[in-house]
Amino acid sequence: MSQYNVVFVLGGPGAGKGTQCENIVRDYGFVHLSAGDLLREERQRPSSEFGEEIEGHIKNGTIVPVQITCSLLRRAMEESGEKKFLIDGFPRNKDNLDGWNNAMKGVADVRMVLFFNCSEQVCVDRCLNRGKTSGRSDDNLESLKKRIHTYNSSTMPIIDHYRTLSLVQEMNGEKSPDEVYGDVKGALDGLNL
Ligand code: C5P
Ligand code: MG
Repeated sequence: MSQYNVVFVLGGPGAGKGTQCENIVRDYGFVHLSAGDLLREERQRPSSEFGEEIEGHIKNGTIVPVQITCSLLRRAMEESGEKKFLIDGFPRNKDNLDGWNNAMKGVADVRMVLFFNCSEQVCVDRCLNRGKTSGRSDDNLESLKKRIHTYNSSTMPIIDHYRTLSLVQEMNGEKSPDEVYGDVKGALDGLNL
């Protein structure tokens, strides 16, 4: 038994990861850690040595080296004093996966991967809509194309890897938020956490 239990939440940009995580936190008592949010926070920290590097990756839709992201996740886990985590937007590529496995073996058990499947068109439309108010430097068409490329080429293989471990619960992310959450509950209720 490891110290921590983890549910990873994956899906394209705009697939509904953040929205569903809010629901889950309310009803299931997980601590929600968004890798993207942690990176954006670190980018804003005046004394961060990684600010420019992180912003470069975010704008380009590429993936920040795992040493940075995994340290932020691990510190947030330790500081929370809790044991159940919903980690959203991670692991996004093989570097993320390998770094996590190296650092967290015996420390955290991955119990499930929630995968919100959503077509490219719906993802783009949702993010462009969010971009009107999000203030995010990557909710624009140019960045979105790159984010979707990264998702298809680097993140899908990670989801396939977890499929081979029978950890993936796939949801249709195009349904309404309430309908998707109904499916999410069905998956989480089977987890004894
Ligand atoms: O998940 P979110 O859409 O907030 O991620 C925004 C950006 O943060 C990604 O496009 C990527 O540049 C960066 N990111 C990363 N590694 C992660 C999660 C996010 O580099 N594991
Ligand atoms: Mg998010």
